[in-house]
Amino acid sequence: MSTIQVALGSRSYPIEIGNGLLSQTGAILQALQLSQNTVVVSSKRILSLHGEPLFRSLRRAALNVAPVVIPEGERHKTLATVDKIYHALSRLRVNRKTLVIAFGGGVVGDIAGFAAASYLRGLPCVQVPTTLLAQIDSAIGGKTGVNLPSGKNLVGVFHQPRAVIVDPLLLSTLPPRELRSGLYEAVKYGVIRSSALLDLVAQKHSRFPQRDKQGLEQMITECARIKAEIVSQDETESELRMILNYGHTLGHALEAATHYKRLTHGEAIGHGMIMANQLAERLNNLEASEAARINAAVQHIAPLPSLRQLRWNEVYRHMLADKKFVDQSFRFVLARRVGHVDIVKDVPRPAVESVLRSYLHAQS
Ligand SMILES: NC(=O)c1ccc[n+]([C@@H]2O[C@H](COP(=O)([O-])OP(=O)(O)OC[C@H]3O[C@@H](n4cnc5c(N)ncnc54)[C@H](O)[C@@H]3O)[C@@H](O)[C@H]2O)c1
Ligand SMILES: [Zn+2]
Repeated sequence: MSTIQVALGSRSYPIEIGNGLLSQTGAILQALQLSQNTVVVSSKRILSLHGEPLFRSLRRAALNVAPVVIPEGERHKTLATVDKIYHALSRLRVNRKTLVIAFGGGVVGDIAGFAAASYLRGLPCVQVPTTLLAQIDSAIGGKTGVNLPSGKNLVGVFHQPRAVIVDPLLLSTLPPRELRSGLYEAVKYGVIRSSALLDLVAQKHSRFPQRDKQGLEQMITECARIKAEIVSQDETESELRMILNYGHTLGHALEAATHYKRLTHGEAIGHGMIMANQLAERLNNLEASEAARINAAVQHIAPLPSLRQLRWNEVYRHMLADKKFVDQSFRFVLARRVGHVDIVKDVPRPAVESVLRSYLHAQS
């Protein structure tokens, strides 16, 4: 078991990580002296899989608990779902001390976090993430929000949680493709900050989640440590936090161009990292052997779904609309070597165009 601190002055909070920790949630919250009254926001599926031990633990700590069930999936990450939560909170007559517990993947975490941030001008929130992606990324750092029909994550605020409680054993029920989606993000952390972490992912991932529970806990702890350190230094992404976008400039455009249907987020980032490496090689930032090592780690998780029949200009169109496109050139996070990336602010359009064209051409 480990505790990692997100250091943000008076808003600092712990990330508690350990196999089996879900059944200690009540005790952890009690020790933090947050509130006697809690509301658990989650989905039907997650509650039926893992709700019992959570509720038992909260009740054992003499906390009052009310569940609020919201619909599953990215398409419900909307203001309409936030409105449902508001109505439930109002029916429950919660007050400004009531603790909102977000129990689910990144979708539940983002929506419940946003509802907590805005209801009564802000309720305290604790994240209890249940997907690998949420455990190593979305539950940490306080970004909350929902989508609009015109784009992803367009409405949101920063609202740091009071604690993040991570139980890697919850991942035993995760669909394998969702597990892999998180593993690509773990590769990302290795590339941006830790060569040892990249090796750990490459060597152990095929035994996750069941056959190497210790290794999985160790990998999650390393990723969370990196995210916590970066968020502590740059809470609102003025500069350093941008390095977490390694693989994401092209990855986000791929997701948008395929209407968020063909690829999981992690798979899009997998493709995005490989293309970013090709760009870095051209711009002389990255040695071929280092690029090969990263690309092998990505491909070793599982062959990425093919991008056949995807037109390069369809992807490019989304890149031009992105906020990372400034003054006719792109901002990219490019690897210099495993463990170190640079934020490159003036990547020329022709270089990006050419990498994208040849990458997609090779897939067809
Ligand atoms: N706030 C941030 O900083 C941040 C960072 C990255 C991503 N995100 C957001 O996170 C979202 C993606 O999150 P995600 O990948 O966790 O997807 P998700 O929340 O949609 O979960 C994926 C699927 O797994 C199911 N599931 C969750 N936990 C399970 C478990 N333990 N066992 C079995 N099934 C389980 C869910 O019900 C869902 O069907 C996106 O909306 C993205 O924008 C936010
Ligand atoms: Zn991501």
